[in-house]
Amino acid sequence: MTTFLRLIVLTCVVAFAVQRLPADNVPDLLLHDGLSLNGEWRSIIDPYETGFYDYRREQRDLNKNPSRAETFYLDVKPNDPSERVEYDFDTSPMLNVPGDWNTQRPELLYYEGSVWYRKTFDLEKLGDGQSAFVRFGAVNYRADVYLNGKKLGTHIGGFTPFCFDVTQFLKPGKNSLVVKVDNKRAKDAVPTVSTDWWNYGGITREVKIVTVPKKFIADHRLILDSETTHTISGWVQITGAGAGEPVEISIPELGEKISAATDASGRAAFHFKPEKLQLWSPVTPKLYEVRIACGGDKVAERIGFRTVRTSGKEILLNGKSVFLRGICIHEEFPLAGGGRVNTAEKAKQLLLWAKELGCNFVRLAHYPHNEAMTRLADELGIMVWSEVPVYWTIDWTNAATYENAQSQLGDNIQRDANRASIIIWSLANETPVSEARTKFLTQLAERARSLDQTRLLSAAMEKHSLPGAENVSVVQDPLADVVDIVAFNQYTGWYDGLPEKCAKISWQIPYDKPVFVSEFGGDARQGLHGSKDQRWTEEFQADLYEKTLPMLGKIDGLVGFTPWILVDFRSPRRVLPGIQDGFNRKGLISSEGTKKKAFAILQAYYQKRAAAERTQ
Ligand code: GCU
Repeated sequence: MTTFLRLIVLTCVVAFAVQRLPADNVPDLLLHDGLSLNGEWRSIIDPYETGFYDYRREQRDLNKNPSRAETFYLDVKPNDPSERVEYDFDTSPMLNVPGDWNTQRPELLYYEGSVWYRKTFDLEKLGDGQSAFVRFGAVNYRADVYLNGKKLGTHIGGFTPFCFDVTQFLKPGKNSLVVKVDNKRAKDAVPTVSTDWWNYGGITREVKIVTVPKKFIADHRLILDSETTHTISGWVQITGAGAGEPVEISIPELGEKISAATDASGRAAFHFKPEKLQLWSPVTPKLYEVRIACGGDKVAERIGFRTVRTSGKEILLNGKSVFLRGICIHEEFPLAGGGRVNTAEKAKQLLLWAKELGCNFVRLAHYPHNEAMTRLADELGIMVWSEVPVYWTIDWTNAATYENAQSQLGDNIQRDANRASIIIWSLANETPVSEARTKFLTQLAERARSLDQTRLLSAAMEKHSLPGAENVSVVQDPLADVVDIVAFNQYTGWYDGLPEKCAKISWQIPYDKPVFVSEFGGDARQGLHGSKDQRWTEEFQADLYEKTLPMLGKIDGLVGFTPWILVDFRSPRRVLPGIQDGFNRKGLISSEGTKKKAFAILQAYYQKRAAAERTQ
């Protein structure tokens, strides 16, 4: 079919192949260029929230009490020498953005509370019909955001992006953006008060001001419908447009140029069938530049096309059975002062260590990692398990907690829906089985499926021993009936007996679904050597891996595993002097970036598996 004729056909085609997603009005402006606000921000540590509450613990409200003295978000100076103003951003210390505050100043390492950030910026006067947004890659945990003394909004959730419209509050010349960041843990939060990772607070990912025309590209999806027919379906969401707005989607390398038109909701659906398409896979991580244009707005990104589904006890990538040679990763970097990953280079180093280990898969624990991580996984050919921090003892009966979890899940899916690397959305980790918990997670699973039917759902569940038969490990969880992959964490040989127990274990996992081991491992202080019976030595950890791998090999339907964990990471729970010193030491790489003996054990196992797969 000639391109011209194709254009005519496609213009009038309304694709029903793609599930119409809720027209989420919150744009994800990741792909739009803008004014970066990364760099040094002024900061005020405010443990008593003086800038937010008055001495009667009433939120400061200028309509009730026009006092400027301690209303930090006003960012004012005294009008005259007699005026009492008890803060001054201009002479307050700096914090770097993006980045956690804990690793920037020694006094903030354990700090949990509020810190005020202030950035000033100039912005050219907006053109006719233009609007402007401030986009945060992530802020942990609660952000109250103000521009020029006016409240823009509040965002809750520490690992997903959000935007606020700043159009009406911008002014010519200097603008003052103030953010109150509060990382205090709470029973009704997601995650809740207890985790096994450091509660890094701050503006931990990039910030930018994005200017867009009246009608702009707010979101888009491209989906490979079939690995055999190579038909691709998709949609583009235009904010500010009604029906009939022309949208152009082009993939130059494929010689594709598709014209579509928005419907009344501003959504332009399309589908097409490229003549030649190379599918994305870990072996051939092929990405295509996809360009989208609508009126004066345009975006572009590199997208890989692949399918993933289960068939009985197998996971099929592009119709072929795949084994997930994985590792768990926290979003924390061991070198350069440690802390949250805040550059693409640090993200890449973690993934390169995973590649060196022989991985084709990573579990990004226990929350959505930064957008660079999943884009690099696309480029490097590493499949991804992406997770929301519904971790341990969540407040299952609290409606606001559910809304929070659902919002984080939706934002994660919206941000990364076009990432070929992500094959699994994970709903939870090690959540205690109860009726309320299973109801909460079943609803979350339904939400995930309503947003994305192209990926698999899972959650890290737990196993237990058969009563009276402690060497029979059983996975029996009502959530296993809901998800696509039965995944569970197991620590035989570390928390449950010693490594020699592994040889005695048999399995009962009564589901006709793929089975995945989402965690196993043990601590070792890098450089501590001794007999393999001496806990905390590298030899003990290596022996645990040697004995665990054949034990897992006995699992019927095993499709892979992600040992816990690539790199040692900070945790306030880990206090053993000289061994842990505030770090969880289950890494195969130490907090100084040095590989431990167990790294080579797992690497050899993965290399052998990969070699065997190449001969198939
Ligand atoms: C749990 C949990 C991890 C934790 C690990 C450990 O399975 O999922 O977040 O760090 O075990 O105890 O080291």
